[in-house]
Amino acid sequence: MSMLFTPLRFGSVELPNRIVIAPMCQYSAVDGCMTDWHLIHLGHLALSGAALLTIEATAVLPEGRITYADVGLWDDATEAAIARTLESIRRWSGMRVAIQLSHAGRKASTEVPWKGEIQIPPDQANGWQTVAPSAIPYEDGEHPPVALDRHGLTQVREAFVAAAQRAVRLGVDAVQLHAAHGYLLHQFLSPLSNRRDDEYGGSLENRMRFPLEVFDAVRAVFPPERPVTMRVSGTDWADGGWDIGQTIAFAQALEARGCAAIHVSSGGLTPSQQIPVGPSYQVPRFPSRAP
Ligand SMILES: Cc1cc2nc3c(=O)[nH]c(=O)nc-3n(C[C@H](O)[C@H](O)[C@H](O)COP(=O)(O)O)c2cc1C
Repeated sequence: MSMLFTPLRFGSVELPNRIVIAPMCQYSAVDGCMTDWHLIHLGHLALSGAALLTIEATAVLPEGRITYADVGLWDDATEAAIARTLESIRRWSGMRVAIQLSHAGRKASTEVPWKGEIQIPPDQANGWQTVAPSAIPYEDGEHPPVALDRHGLTQVREAFVAAAQRAVRLGVDAVQLHAAHGYLLHQFLSPLSNRRDDEYGGSLENRMRFPLEVFDAVRAVFPPERPVTMRVSGTDWADGGWDIGQTIAFAQALEARGCAAIHVSSGGLTPSQQIPVGPSYQVPRFPSRAP
């Protein structure tokens, strides 16, 4: 039998097989609240027989949404909307559920994908001022983000913690922190988006500091027996950017702090990325059966 269908222990969570449904933004929320769309989408996936269902990138603050239609978990209303969805799903499915907690940083305040995905400046409807490690926009010509100061960093870290505490109340089995695809925590990691001259920028150790602080703070409030994981982009696919060597150092630092798994993706940090898209471009070819 394929290894795919064998059980896996994930932290203290027993998974009956190794199929994990990746987080997928639906851009179908209202004021951060899940709607019937999410019940249909997640409910359908929850009947698929996979072992673990990951709820889409869920913003820890309103300004951390990629678009105005993203799901959030920053207040009682957004929590209640997720609770309603999960209650219905749990009536019909025993599938374990994880949630991806996220802050989009400089890639926030954009139009939904089917309307062009372009940045909405703060003076237009559905737009707001974005924040980032440094005041460097994602694309030339965009309204620049404001560099987070000490107070801003504390607010963001505490928002991740508060969302994780809400996730505990929701009975979520695992939390994944989003440090991939060019969003805020990735923006701290990459030298292309992080030009800070304080202890959160410069050396690799400094660039990893804020994402690791967020990890530690979330790990401290999420029940120890339930896994906390991190999604990363293994490379920016761009000269002078985040790369495999730095990802390995980050993964080792996370492992030492009790990170249960790393979900490796790639890219998303810069429009100048050069991705050699083709079969298996993100992973070397490997035997179909583990030794
Ligand atoms: C509609 C859509 C929404 C997505 N939203 C997210 C997301 O919220 N968070 C995330 O980390 N990745 C997101 N992704 C990337 C997926 O999680 C996944 O990595 C990608 O679809 C590749 O799938 P594969 O690994 O099965 O090839 C999204 C992808 C799609 C197609």
